[in-house]
Amino acid sequence: MVKVLFVCLGNICRSPLAEGLLAHHAQQQGFAGRIVVDSCGTGGWHAGELPDPRTRKVAAAHGVALPSRARQIRAEDFLQFDYLIPMDRKNLSDLQDLMRLSGKTKAELLLMRQFDELAPGTDVPDPYYGDLEDFYRVFEILDRSTRRLLAMLSERHGLQAL
Ligand code: 4NP
Repeated sequence: MVKVLFVCLGNICRSPLAEGLLAHHAQQQGFAGRIVVDSCGTGGWHAGELPDPRTRKVAAAHGVALPSRARQIRAEDFLQFDYLIPMDRKNLSDLQDLMRLSGKTKAELLLMRQFDELAPGTDVPDPYYGDLEDFYRVFEILDRSTRRLLAMLSERHGLQAL
């Protein structure tokens, strides 16, 4: 089983959508039983909340389910997940700080947009203070990036469709 945790700041806009999209693509390609997907935030202000209504609207428009409730990252996440995938470089540096504090880790840190062939290594922009258009833009970025992430995981781990 390959375990993937997406990470953003509040866990209500970007990372729950990345979670829903990777699970959606995995399901469509027959890998659903091979991958565990979750998401969290570096901050805990929205813990327990559903994703932002604009994130839910954009996901629903594309038939993507969003099952998650917001939660903050925990020390055990660094041991339980194979991949931690931050949405931007600030999330990445916050995770690197937490990793240094927590000591042991098995997780590999990979920036989400290193899988985006249109703008590799850039940030998934935070749409929280933006408008619905910004959420549609984030959807396109995450759709592209999660498809290529899934292709990498399937090749690296020899995933077989069930
Ligand atoms: P996210 O967006 O990190 O993509 O979930 C944000 C959500 C909430 C806040 C900031 C960003 N906030 O400041 O509450």
